Amino acid sequence: MAESKLVIEGGHPLQGEIRIQGAKNSVLPLLSAVVLCDEDVVLERCPALSDVYAASRILTHLGCRCSFRDGKMEIRNGGISRSEIPEAMMHEMRSSITFLGPLLSRTGSCTLYLPGGCELGPRPIDMHLHALRQMGAEIHETHGMLRLQGRLRGADLHLPFPSVGATENIMLAAVLAQGRTRIHNAAREPEIRDLAEFLAACGAKISGAGTDTVIIDGVERLHGCVYRVMPDRIAAATYLSAAAAAGGSVCIQDCCPEDLTAVTEVLRQMGCRVYCHESRIYLQSSLPLHAAPYIRTMPHPGFPTDAQALLMAAHCKARGSCMFEETIFDSRYRHVDDLIRMGADIRLSGRAAVVHGVQKLSGTTVHATDLRGGAAMLIAGLTAEGVTELTELSHLDRGYEDPEGVLRSLGAKIERIT
Ligand code: EPZ
Repeated sequence: MAESKLVIEGGHPLQGEIRIQGAKNSVLPLLSAVVLCDEDVVLERCPALSDVYAASRILTHLGCRCSFRDGKMEIRNGGISRSEIPEAMMHEMRSSITFLGPLLSRTGSCTLYLPGGCELGPRPIDMHLHALRQMGAEIHETHGMLRLQGRLRGADLHLPFPSVGATENIMLAAVLAQGRTRIHNAAREPEIRDLAEFLAACGAKISGAGTDTVIIDGVERLHGCVYRVMPDRIAAATYLSAAAAAGGSVCIQDCCPEDLTAVTEVLRQMGCRVYCHESRIYLQSSLPLHAAPYIRTMPHPGFPTDAQALLMAAHCKARGSCMFEETIFDSRYRHVDDLIRMGADIRLSGRAAVVHGVQKLSGTTVHATDLRGGAAMLIAGLTAEGVTELTELSHLDRGYEDPEGVLRSLGAKIERIT
C-alpha cells in the first residue's frame, strides 16, 4: 500500500461522544482459540485491524474459512488440516505465538517460528515453552524454528511473572488437555477474563480467570459459539488522553470503566473531571493540565504499560513534572525522540523518564515507532501549534480502527493523505 500519513492541525478542543472498538488484545487470543473448536464461531464487535486480518490469514492457512463484514468475523471451521505456521505469517504478527497452545492441543504437533523481537525490545517466550514442557510437550528448536509434539496433560504451573501471553497460551493448551491445570501467578488483565468467557461459551471448564490463580479442567471437545468481544480499554485510554491533552469534554460509550481505574485516576490527578456511569466514561478537561507526580507501569490492575506513551504525550504541556517508570518492557520509550523534536522536555535514564511540562509543542513531521508510540504522536499533534505529519501508519493500523475518523467526529482537524 502506498505510504500514507496523517496530517493533524493542533489547537482544537475535542467535543462529543464515541463508541469504543472491540479489544485488539482480546480478539487476537480469541482467534487463536478458534483452532480448538470443531464448529463455526462468530465474533461480534470484531475490530477492523491489520493484526486481525493477519490472524484470520493464519486461520485460513490452518483450514478455516473467515469472512469479515460490519464488525462481525465469521469463521467456518471445517477442521484443522495443517499444524505449521509459515515464518512470514509468524513475523507479520508477534502475538501469533498464542496459536502454539491450541494447535499443539488440537493436532498433537505444531511447527512455528520464534516470533522474534519487536519495537518494544526482545519478546522472549521462555515462560510459554517451560509451561508447555511441564504439560508434556516435546520441544525442539533449531534456527528459530520450533517443533512441538505430544499429548498434553494438566499440570501445576507457576509463572515467574504474570505474563499475559503465557497465561493465554497455557489456558488454550489446557482446555483439551487430560486432567486439571492450575496457573499460579497468572496475569489478571481483563482480556484473560474475556478469553475464559469465550472458552466457557464453547464448553470449556475454567475458573479463576481475572485472579492470580486460573484453574482449567480438560474436556473432550469445544463446540462453536457467537461471542461479543470486550471493548478495547487501551483505545478508550487513548481517546481519553487525547481529550485531556487537547481540552474539551467527551463521552466514551460502550466501555468498561472498571478496567481503566488506574488511568482515570491519573487523569483526575492531572485536573480532569472524570465521571463513570455503567458503560460510559465522561471526561472534562480545561487546560493547562497539572502533572501527576509519578506513573509506574505494572501488571493489571496497576497502570497499564500500553497507556504509558499516551499519558506521556498528555504530560508534555502539563504544569510541573511527572516521573514515569516503565517496568514491563525493556525499551518502550521510542516515542520520546519525536516528542522532544516537537519541543517536549523529557529526560531518560534507564527505565525512568522525567517529563517537565513546557508552554508549547510545535507541529513537525514525526513517525510512529510502535503501536502506542504512534498514538502518543497523534495526541501530541492535537496539542501542538501548527501542523504535525505522522508517518509509518502501519503501526497505528495494527491496533486502532479508523483513528482519524474517531478523532474527526470529536472535532479534531485530521486527514489521512495517501
Ligand atoms: C500483551 O503482550 C499485549 N499484547 C501487549 O500489548 C501488552 O503490552 C502486554 O501484554 C502487557 O500487558 C497482546 O495481548 C497481543 P507479556 P505480551 O507476556 O503477552 C516478558 C499493545 O500495545 N516475558 O505480559 O507479549 C516480556 O518480554 C501490546 O497492544 C518473558 O520474559 O506481554 C515482557 O517484558 C504491546 N518471557 C513482560 O514479560 C515470556 O515467556 C510482559 O510480557 C513472556 C513474557
